[in-house]
Amino acid sequence: MADENTTEAGAPQQDGADRAGTTERARGPVSRRAVIGWTGAGIALGAAAAGGAAAAVRTGNDVQPAGSAGNVIAFHGTNQAGITTPVQDRLHFAAFDVKTDDRAELVALLKEWTAAAAAMTAGKPVGAGAVGGLPEAPPDDTGEALGLPSSRLTITVGFGPTLFEKDGKDRFGLKAQRPTALVDLPAFPHDNLDATRSGGDICVQACADDPQVAVHAIRNLARIGFGKVAVRWSQLGFGKTSSTTPDEQTPRNLMGFKDGTHNVAGSDRATQDEHVWAAAKDGAAWMAGGSYLVARRIRMHIETWDRTPLKEQEDIFGRNKGEGAPAGKQREHDTPNLKAMLPTAHVRLAHPDSNSGVTILRRGYSFTDGTDGLGRLDAGLFFLAYQRDVRSGFIPVQKRLAGTDALNEYIQHVGSAHFACPPGVRDSADWWGRGLFEGK
Ligand code: HEM
Repeated sequence: MADENTTEAGAPQQDGADRAGTTERARGPVSRRAVIGWTGAGIALGAAAAGGAAAAVRTGNDVQPAGSAGNVIAFHGTNQAGITTPVQDRLHFAAFDVKTDDRAELVALLKEWTAAAAAMTAGKPVGAGAVGGLPEAPPDDTGEALGLPSSRLTITVGFGPTLFEKDGKDRFGLKAQRPTALVDLPAFPHDNLDATRSGGDICVQACADDPQVAVHAIRNLARIGFGKVAVRWSQLGFGKTSSTTPDEQTPRNLMGFKDGTHNVAGSDRATQDEHVWAAAKDGAAWMAGGSYLVARRIRMHIETWDRTPLKEQEDIFGRNKGEGAPAGKQREHDTPNLKAMLPTAHVRLAHPDSNSGVTILRRGYSFTDGTDGLGRLDAGLFFLAYQRDVRSGFIPVQKRLAGTDALNEYIQHVGSAHFACPPGVRDSADWWGRGLFEGK
């Protein structure tokens, strides 16, 4: 099924505003992907040209069919891309501490970041590019994505509680704008949080089908922000562990189970409006069309898991391992009978029917970060969940899971953060956080 956010050219769109944005981007000075029109009619860059047999894409020294350009996901729109748009295969996530205490400098940075993100998501380099600029100056772009297609890159930004107030200080005059929904997350039983992997003033989530494209995006934003922001922590992810495209094959997590079977679909606008997108009437008008993101680094004790019998593994989730079918059912998407699962089963406890209808959009990734020094892999799930309000989203579900989930024996939450992700950047005059800083 074609996603409703997908253009004819195969490029997911946020809304009509994106088409204008795409055309605008197509006029940019330098392109990472030079498009050659066989017909001589001239073909625009970006979403408008990301497909079709009558086009080719020059990537470095190669010429590839445009279909392999990996499709561009529109940057401009009502909502930020990277939330309900199709989940790509790779992640680079970074949380930044703001080092400057100058509000104007922070605003200038957000504007510069927005322009760089618009370029990179369209498959273009930052600024004047990696080559061809002044020989005496360092290039605007670091260059490692030269020749690579846009790879469905999305860059999503969020603001943490400490941007609004830190150690009792209203750092940037934003305290009054802090949404009541942007709470400090409570401590949950079994949490073992590492402060150096938690919190942050600003987060940037870069997702792409090519890890180098995702890393390039974070690296270039960090580079632009040098002296004004510093990376507090960052996380690489591979193998999406949930999907917003239920008609596609459901991915598996590192425990070998299908993950994301019952998630909010990218095409289900009604559920998104109820459970994912914040509205002006929720309190903070600048967050209308935005969403609240919870990030949790969840370590998996996979060595213990791998010694657990199959039947026990299946009972822990309440779904079977091969098909992903709920207990007592045949097919993955059969309606679950929660009572057929153990009272401690993860799916039974997390299902909306056990939580007064609470629904969150999961968008996590697997990770393996070397060893823990004790002969085991430091592996797990980098859990990302978007919702309209964590007080009626992540918090009640996690309270229930932390209490009795059978999975707790095999996992531990070691990092945590909460961010208010503003609405989408509407056009090339708009920028990340404009509503927050300027009230419009
Ligand atoms: C390492 C930790 C976790 C693992 C391995 C994991 C794995 C899974 C699996 C395999 C499923 C069943 C397939 C599906 O519908 O997606 C599932 C469902 C779900 N999980 Fe998790 N999960 C983890 C942590 C969490 C956390 C922290 C939350 C939220 C606080 C959560 C919320 C949910 C929800 C809401 C569902 C869907 C239940 C339903 O409606 O049927 N999970 N999880």
